[in-house]
Amino acid sequence: MKIIAISGSLREGSFNTKLLHCARKLASEDLTLEVVRLNDIPLYNGDHDTADSKPEAVLQLAEKLRQAEGILICTPEYNYSISGVLKNAIDWLSRVDGQPFNGKPVGIMGAAAGQIGTARAQYHLRQVLVGLNPRVMSRPEFFMGAVHTKFDDDGNLSDADSEKFLKSYLAAFADWVRGQTRR
Ligand SMILES: Cc1cc2nc3c(=O)[nH]c(=O)nc-3n(C[C@H](O)[C@H](O)[C@H](O)COP(=O)(O)O)c2cc1C
Repeated sequence: MKIIAISGSLREGSFNTKLLHCARKLASEDLTLEVVRLNDIPLYNGDHDTADSKPEAVLQLAEKLRQAEGILICTPEYNYSISGVLKNAIDWLSRVDGQPFNGKPVGIMGAAAGQIGTARAQYHLRQVLVGLNPRVMSRPEFFMGAVHTKFDDDGNLSDADSEKFLKSYLAAFADWVRGQTRR
């Protein structure tokens, strides 16, 4: 099963991007995660959004999402909400023909410095996604707090509980996506 895993942070050393790479490595064989960063998505500008022209990076991302069986979004928390770059990408994706989120199974994860690990951001993300009509998995939820204590220098999870929970989250997500695509 092909899943596009979007990181909501542009930062080279982003913990959210690291978490998705850990997920890619820990996922079972039938779950293929492609980690995607949003660094090439320009700021939304209606002047560059016409019926016959959109930025190439937006069209490429939209096509990747259309081809995937599911989408996994890993969001940081910025001032109790999602990052501007994630919202910006969602805004662009809502403007393309053949809406890539429509009916698509989506999982949400997030890693942040605070103890409640992006809970506030994730609930904002759920609200934002309503307008694009995906099928968002309700439970289990994945919140990673105190993220600076959870990885080793090579970007692997150094926290055994987090690794165990990530594996179980991915198994639940895979089962759920399979159930959604059979419908
Ligand atoms: C502008 C800004 C706002 C932030 N707001 C929050 C916040 O509301 N809650 C929180 O837990 N961490 C907050 N943080 C800290 C981030 O969780 C932390 O920088 C995290 O590592 C960002 O994700 P990344 O490593 O994937 O880039 C904020 C960081 C920035 C730069």
